[in-house]
Amino acid sequence: MVVPESGDKMYPPPADLQRDAHVPDFNSYLALYRKSLDDPEAFWKEVADDFFWKTPATGPMLQYNFDVTKGSVYVKCMEGARTNVCYNVLDRHVRDGSLGEKVAYYWEGNSPDNRETITYRQLLSRVCRCANVLKLMGVKKGDRVSIYLPMIPELVYTMLACARIGAIHSVVFAGFSSESLGERIADAQSAVLVTADGVFRGEKLINLKQIADEALQKCREKASRSVAKCLVVRHHALRIRAGAASNKLQTPWDPERDVWWDEAVAAAPDECEPEWLDAEEPLFILHTSGSTGKPKGVLHTTAGYLLYTSLTFKYVFDHHHDDVFWCTADIGWITGHSYITYGPLANGASSVLFEGTPVHPHVGRFWEIIEKYKVTKFYTAPTAIRLLMRYGGEPLQKYDLSSLRILGSVGEPINPEAWQWFHEAVGGGRCPVVDTFWQTETGGHVLTPLPAATPLKPGSATFPFFGVEPAVLNESGEELEGEAEGYLVFRRPWPGIMRSVYKNHERFENTYFKKFPGFYVTGDGCRRDKDGYYWITGRIDDMLNVSGHLMSTAEVEAALAEHPAVAEAAAVSRPHRVKGECLYCFVTLKERREFSRSLEDELKTLVREKIGPIATPDFIQNAPALPKTRSGKIMRRILRQIARNEEDLGDVSTLADPKVVELLISQRCQAAA
Ligand code: PRX
Repeated sequence: MVVPESGDKMYPPPADLQRDAHVPDFNSYLALYRKSLDDPEAFWKEVADDFFWKTPATGPMLQYNFDVTKGSVYVKCMEGARTNVCYNVLDRHVRDGSLGEKVAYYWEGNSPDNRETITYRQLLSRVCRCANVLKLMGVKKGDRVSIYLPMIPELVYTMLACARIGAIHSVVFAGFSSESLGERIADAQSAVLVTADGVFRGEKLINLKQIADEALQKCREKASRSVAKCLVVRHHALRIRAGAASNKLQTPWDPERDVWWDEAVAAAPDECEPEWLDAEEPLFILHTSGSTGKPKGVLHTTAGYLLYTSLTFKYVFDHHHDDVFWCTADIGWITGHSYITYGPLANGASSVLFEGTPVHPHVGRFWEIIEKYKVTKFYTAPTAIRLLMRYGGEPLQKYDLSSLRILGSVGEPINPEAWQWFHEAVGGGRCPVVDTFWQTETGGHVLTPLPAATPLKPGSATFPFFGVEPAVLNESGEELEGEAEGYLVFRRPWPGIMRSVYKNHERFENTYFKKFPGFYVTGDGCRRDKDGYYWITGRIDDMLNVSGHLMSTAEVEAALAEHPAVAEAAAVSRPHRVKGECLYCFVTLKERREFSRSLEDELKTLVREKIGPIATPDFIQNAPALPKTRSGKIMRRILRQIARNEEDLGDVSTLADPKVVELLISQRCQAAA
């Protein structure tokens, strides 16, 4: 058991969850964790034994070099083994006879009337048809396929079809602009693009094919190689609303290049032999933003990613056969890759695949879906929680959420107020909240509680997952012991860590391994408390130094968010003549709350009380909304520029709503101008 020395309030795991959990208590976690570090060979071998290997491994489970001064950085898992990820997540379940009729996905469209249930057997046959279509289009092992699709089943079919034939998928979030899509297609040098005619986002109809065509045009202008074929899904909802929607939607068409999905798959056989791949052959590329502005194509490979997403899913969500799992992320991000597609399917799980938004057609949509499918494990993001918190408890009360057993959070630090609301209002105080820290680069969870084993502290991602060995370093690269705050790094790889930046291994080494040779640098700051719990303090570039004190913007934001009038807050630094840097904070108020001088004073006092006088914000600006990326991340770069009175804010095209910026500029704190 953890012995709390800090005096922090802890939430012990619920006894009913412990009874049949895979890791039923803290001592079991510690024993398994020790084994994973002391004998990684035996630990990962046991995990691999659950999967099918066409050829067994001849090399060790993990080999690596993390030290740039000793040569090129590499990670290898199960050298010599040959397998196929699609075979392992589908055929293995269907051929064994056990799960063919089990539901793989409950698809729920943007409109509640659009839904479909897909079994493992159906999924396998549709994936095979798609794989055959791709092959007919000339796609071979190692070729790249870009995917620009909304959250419809065809997105999963295409990813798995690529995996089946050894093609490398590169999914691009369907909210990205033609510019961003074009840049990613060109970087991957894809042979084929899979997209859809259109999609409803809320009430808005978006002409995806037109955006895709613009992107392909840009690629042609820039890149040496162009996409040869474009496979186009006719969106279900558009077909249902044929009269209204298709009149509005003009689908641009190039008969030489474009092929309708439904016509192609109808003519394709529903069996397709899987391609057997080496353990280290690529599975996919997924672009993530880089500090230089150019996105990095994060490369994940076959065996290690399969083992890691499968194991994290099983343990972190304590998966059992009858569960209904729902991860609300979009598959355009790593969370969807690992915990909608690969992790759940590798475990034979039933998941909800949701296309819509949390507030359409009403603010109770999430709760309605939980009731409808009797969701047992619910995984979402703090930004969604804070959004829904603004509507209070009423929308929740209309629905039965008693099926829920475990809640999960991902993507950013969760402030204690949002954690409490999630825990109490959504989980009825019964369900542990697993705050999972990880990155596109890590492939799966790296710091996370295990729901039946780890006593929780709201806002802490708690402890490392199996095989993960964190360390906290100071600016000079010295390792800090015990209670400490500094750079979060990892000393050794786990099977799911990225292997390279696509076609740019040097950038991989420079970004993640150069600063502290021998360690993978996350780019996040963290604090380890007296009890050994890890607390992510935000990106290192979001750290600020006020009068010589290092502090994180996340802690200031959490303090502000505790005020009953505040729905969401973002803190950035602003240069200060005396203190070096000072805090400039943006606050979004809850509905029907008014911004006033006295509220501003209350907020400053609150932060001073929570963190200390050095953290007292110099500026607090009322922000009716915050500039966010389409994945819901606050763009602090823009807020920093507003706080610094900069006029040219650079590229704001990746924002979900660029108009927010003008509003914030016009309401900039006068004293800061
Ligand atoms: O800063 C951390 C934050 O999100 C970053 C990774 O972003 P991305 O690659 O887009 O992947 C997001 C989904 C895994 C991290 O470097 N982050 C992610 N999860 C958490 C988090 N920060 C605090 N707590 C988390 N649970």
